[in-house]
Amino acid sequence: MSRFYRATIRERRAFGKLIWLELEAPELAAHLRPGQALLVRPADMQSADPLLRATIFHAGSNAKQGTITFLLSDGEEFQQAWLLQYAYPSSTLDIYGPVGRGFELDPRTGNLLLVGEGPGLAALVALTQQAVARRISVVLLAAASHSDYQIPAFLLPPDVEYQFTTGPLSELLEPLAGSKKQPLFSSNAPIVWADQACVSLDPLSLQDFVQQLRAQRLRWTPGFAFALIAEQLACGSGACFGCMLETRNGWQLRCKDGPIFDLKRLA
Ligand code: FES
Repeated sequence: MSRFYRATIRERRAFGKLIWLELEAPELAAHLRPGQALLVRPADMQSADPLLRATIFHAGSNAKQGTITFLLSDGEEFQQAWLLQYAYPSSTLDIYGPVGRGFELDPRTGNLLLVGEGPGLAALVALTQQAVARRISVVLLAAASHSDYQIPAFLLPPDVEYQFTTGPLSELLEPLAGSKKQPLFSSNAPIVWADQACVSLDPLSLQDFVQQLRAQRLRWTPGFAFALIAEQLACGSGACFGCMLETRNGWQLRCKDGPIFDLKRLA
């Protein structure tokens, strides 16, 4: 099966410094899973430029309509900057993927906690759609450096409880720990309430999250918490060994064994 696709941009909208793109990509939309990576070539279709592809995590898909959505920020990363300059309706993108394994929701999960920031947050947005379709209760906690990067609530399914901060992620993790500052959460801490947690965080925030898990849950077993490591992938095919990650199971490749890992195997 070919893993190279052409996707035509159907619509582009700006929300602060976030750019929302809807792409026509029926084959991808049919089998793409939240958390799988797509490698988008940062050059137009005619160019022979071999620049590294941009690693993008989609923010949603609609198999019936044959569309997928991207949620990009105007960050410093070159590949995304190129994409934002080029990506207007009717342009065509050269996409390789899907790469890696996506998030898997346990069939017994009734309450799902999502905590994210950075480029992997889009994958959690995609996961809210899948979870709500399964009638799972979802809390999404998100952080960004500026409110211009806040994902508008109307892009999420209405049943999702959504909290956002521009401060350090600990502001969201403290309530998880049952902080007296926010009694709303202390009586019903999401980290205790959740049957499953999926996160995409920078390394320091991930450490904070693991500390909160250890403090709050008497029993934290494999299969409860999963982390998306949303860093750049070079080849996406297991050939370059540029994405190796040390885990409790030994060295693994983010593009083959990940980019989702059981947090118990990373912590
Ligand atoms: S990205 Fe090349 S081996 Fe994983």
